[in-house]
Amino acid sequence: MHIGIIMDGNGRWAVSRGLPRLAGHRRGAKRVTEIVKSCPSLGVKTLTLYAFSTENWKRAPQEVDGLMRLFRRHLRTQLVELHQQNVRVRFLGDPSALADDIQNQMDYLSELTKNNTGLHLNIAINYGGRDELARAVRGIVNSVVSGQISVDAIDEQMIGRALDTGDQLDPDLIIRTAGEVRISNFLTWQSAESELTFVDVPWPDFYKANLAKAIDDLRSRSPRFGAVDHDMAKEA
Ligand code: FPP
Repeated sequence: MHIGIIMDGNGRWAVSRGLPRLAGHRRGAKRVTEIVKSCPSLGVKTLTLYAFSTENWKRAPQEVDGLMRLFRRHLRTQLVELHQQNVRVRFLGDPSALADDIQNQMDYLSELTKNNTGLHLNIAINYGGRDELARAVRGIVNSVVSGQISVDAIDEQMIGRALDTGDQLDPDLIIRTAGEVRISNFLTWQSAESELTFVDVPWPDFYKANLAKAIDDLRSRSPRFGAVDHDMAKEA
């Protein structure tokens, strides 16, 4: 099962406690660690996390800087652990706008973990579904212009493969935390057939039990996911 998560509500979680917004993001990063760890036992094979959207650059400079510092630190400290957990990490989005050292860290982590066979973790940073589609279209048009492919060869499979998710399966379920009922430019093409779940809890309060409940709810409302139980997933 592939699950995508829009991790919303860090700011509100912090402000409602009289804390700076960054405190919410820091706590959000801790939730990322736990949720990643919980995936294998819940039968989640691929997890895609929306960490920073193309729209997030419009936030106050100190919040953007703080988030970048957090990514830097999180990537560095989680590196060994993710590798030990057999997680394969990939990044979605356009890295070119990020600081060089963050790009290097992303490349290093992707390279280090590329043959891992456990959870496939996609982290979307400077990601927007429309931006991804525009970049894919540019790549395909270049192949047409250079004569490698004909216009008639362009089909849904080709477009899908040209996206940042490449040959990965589309998400079965997209979860958004913190109550808003929008997709916000997340996996625009890939979510065409996805189930959607909106939960009221903000991301800093989203635990393994919340993820397990979202999966159970999906299994009971949608016959195509059947009643595969978590024990079976554990053995797989
Ligand atoms: C949305 O909450 C959250 C973000 C823009 C950042 C998500 C980042 C993390 C969870 C931290 C680290 C992640 C990784 C992968 C290391 P919001 O600020 O929009 O909340 P609000 O709507 O309450 O203001």
